[in-house]
Amino acid sequence: MRKQCFAERYYADHFSHLQKRYDRALENHRIDKLLVYSGAVKTRFQDDLPYPFFPAAQFKAIVPLINAPESWVIWQAGNKPILLLYQPEDYWHVVPQLLESYWTPYFTIVSIVEKEQASEFFGDTQHSAFLGEPNRHIKEWIAGQYNPEPLIAELNWHRSYKTLYEQACIREANKTSSKGHIAARQAFYHRASELDIALAFQQACQQSEEMLAYPSIVAVNQHAAILHYWGRDSSVPGRTHSLLIDAAASCYGYAADITRTYSFYHGLFADLITALDRVQRELVSKHQVGVRYFDLNVLALHKIPVILEDAGVLKMSATTAVECGVAGHFLPHPLGHFLGLQVHDVGANQRDASGALIDIDPNYPRFRMLRTIEPNQVVTVEPGIYFIEPLLKQLQQGKHRNAIDWALVAQLRSCGGIRIEDNVLITEDGPQNLTRIAM
Ligand code: GLY
Ligand code: MN
Ligand code: MN
Repeated sequence: MRKQCFAERYYADHFSHLQKRYDRALENHRIDKLLVYSGAVKTRFQDDLPYPFFPAAQFKAIVPLINAPESWVIWQAGNKPILLLYQPEDYWHVVPQLLESYWTPYFTIVSIVEKEQASEFFGDTQHSAFLGEPNRHIKEWIAGQYNPEPLIAELNWHRSYKTLYEQACIREANKTSSKGHIAARQAFYHRASELDIALAFQQACQQSEEMLAYPSIVAVNQHAAILHYWGRDSSVPGRTHSLLIDAAASCYGYAADITRTYSFYHGLFADLITALDRVQRELVSKHQVGVRYFDLNVLALHKIPVILEDAGVLKMSATTAVECGVAGHFLPHPLGHFLGLQVHDVGANQRDASGALIDIDPNYPRFRMLRTIEPNQVVTVEPGIYFIEPLLKQLQQGKHRNAIDWALVAQLRSCGGIRIEDNVLITEDGPQNLTRIAM
C-alpha cells in the first residue's frame, strides 16, 4: 500500500523526464524509433530447465516490469510509448498479468500471444534502434541499428542522475532490506548456518531470490575473505567468529546494496568493526557536491591502514603502508559504485553524454568511479578490511613481511574480513545516507 503511494506521487514527473530524455536522444542520433526488448527466457545447455529471467536494464528503465520476457517497448518521439506485453496461452508457466498500476496510464498496452506478433507493430525499421540482447529472429525483423553505443552512452549518462521516483524506489529497497538485515543479525547471534541466515534475510524481506537485488553474500568466518562468496553452508561451524552479509532487496527494478559485519565475540575483530564503522561514516560525510569520487577512494586507502596501525596489525606507519603497497592487500576493491537499475550502475566513468571515458589513473587501475560528485547521484560507500589468504601469502613472502604482526593476523584470519556498505543519495545539502535512515 505504501509503495503504491510513493510511486503514484512521483511517477508523472519521472515519466516526463523519460519523455524528454528519450525524445532528445532519438533526435540527437537521428533515430526515428526505439525498439526495446525485455529479453528471452534461457534454458540450461541441452536441457529444458529455465534460468531465472531478468529483464534488460534498458527495458526496465522505461517500464517497471521485471517478470515480462519477450515483451517490447516501442518508443517514438511525440507518441505515447507502446508496450507489447507477451501473454502466451500457456498453462505450464506463469503468464504476466497486467493489473492497472501507477505507470500503466502512460503506455498503450497491447497483449501479444505469439513472440512473432511483435514484429507486426514495428513498422518500417530502417531508421530504428534496437536495445536489448538480440537473437536470430530479431535480426530478421529489424533492419536498423543494434545497441548503438553513442545512443546508449547518452541514455546511461542520464541514468546517473536519479529522479525523485528513482530515489524513492532505492529508499524503499533500503527499507525492505533493513528488515532482512535485522533478521539476519538475529539469526547469526543464534548461531544459525549461512543457509538459515540467508533464508531469514529473505523471509524478512519477503522477496524470492530472483527478486533480491543480487545473490546474497552470507559469509560466516573465513568465508568473508572471499569477496563474492555465494556458498550456503547448511552446517554451523564448530566455532562461530563473524558474519559478513552483503544482501539487499529491490523495489520496482531498483537495487539496494548493503553490507554489515558482526563479530560473535568482543575483542580485536569487534574493535576493528567499530573503527571501520567510524571511518565509513566519515567517508560518507565527505560525499559533498564537487568532490571527486577518485579522491575519496584515495582517502579510504589512506584511512584503512590507520585502523590497522592503531590495532598493531601493521608495524609500519599507515603512510608507509600505502606508499609501499602493503595497505592495498587489506582493501582490494574500490570504495563504491553507482547504484540504480543495476547494482553496479552505469555511467561511473563517463566524461559526458557522448560516451567519452575519463582516463584511468595507472597508479589506481581498480578505481572505476571517476566522476565528480553531483546532486541526485546514488552511490555505495563500502570500505573494507580483509584477511584474504592469497594476499596474505604475497605479504608473507614479500619484502615487507616484518612490517606485519603475524600473531594478530593469525587471530583475525578466521574472521575473514569486514565490509560496511551504505547507499548514499547526493544532495546540494550534503549526503543522505539512505541505509542508516532505514535501519
Ligand atoms: N554487492 C556487490 C557490491 O557490493 O558491489
Ligand atoms: Mn556495492
Ligand atoms: Mn554489496
